[in-house]
Amino acid sequence: MNRTFGGTTVSCVRGDITEQHVDAIVNAANAQLAGGGGVDGAIHRAGGPSIMKECRAIGGCPTGEAVRTGAGDLPAAHVVHAVGPIWRGGEHGEADLLASAYASSLAAAAEGGARSVAFPSISTGAYGYPKADAAAIAMATVASRAPALDFHEVRFVLFSDADLQVYQQALADLAPSEASCL
Ligand code: APR
Repeated sequence: MNRTFGGTTVSCVRGDITEQHVDAIVNAANAQLAGGGGVDGAIHRAGGPSIMKECRAIGGCPTGEAVRTGAGDLPAAHVVHAVGPIWRGGEHGEADLLASAYASSLAAAAEGGARSVAFPSISTGAYGYPKADAAAIAMATVASRAPALDFHEVRFVLFSDADLQVYQQALADLAPSEASCL
């Protein structure tokens, strides 16, 4: 399904983030930019060693922020490495940090000239963030931030049908007012 906010079309698809033909894909990274499993492992495997070389040169990224590298052998032009929060029960600023990870990713992609970006479900794998809550934060942040940064497309790429349903529901549930006043 698709919804449009300003000039930005937001969509949810089932798929592999490494195969997306968009200007920038977002990695669910860690603060050391050290690589790992999940999305991070898939991106470094498919993209080749140049991405890790750039990550080592950058050195790290605080939780809630994002940095940009090239995309090596991937079809995208950029990889934005976003560091989402580890879920610790919800009382440790997790929601603000997750929103900030999405907002920072959009800013980093826009700085690189990207007008289309694909996101995975940040923090909901190894980092344990409850999926429905994470999806609502992701949608609200993207709908409020992406139009002003001139994105024409933001695509959420989910790895399972169950996750796709959760993100589609969050997109459907987002009120137009939530998008404009955040
Ligand atoms: N494309 C799209 N989504 C994927 C892919 C892929 N190729 N591989 C995994 N996923 C999904 C997972 O199923 C999960 O729903 O991405 C979601 C995020 O899971 P993680 O990759 O574990 O990300 P996160 O929870 O943010 O944890 C980050 O895990 O791999 C390490 O180095 C990484 O330490 C960091 C931590």
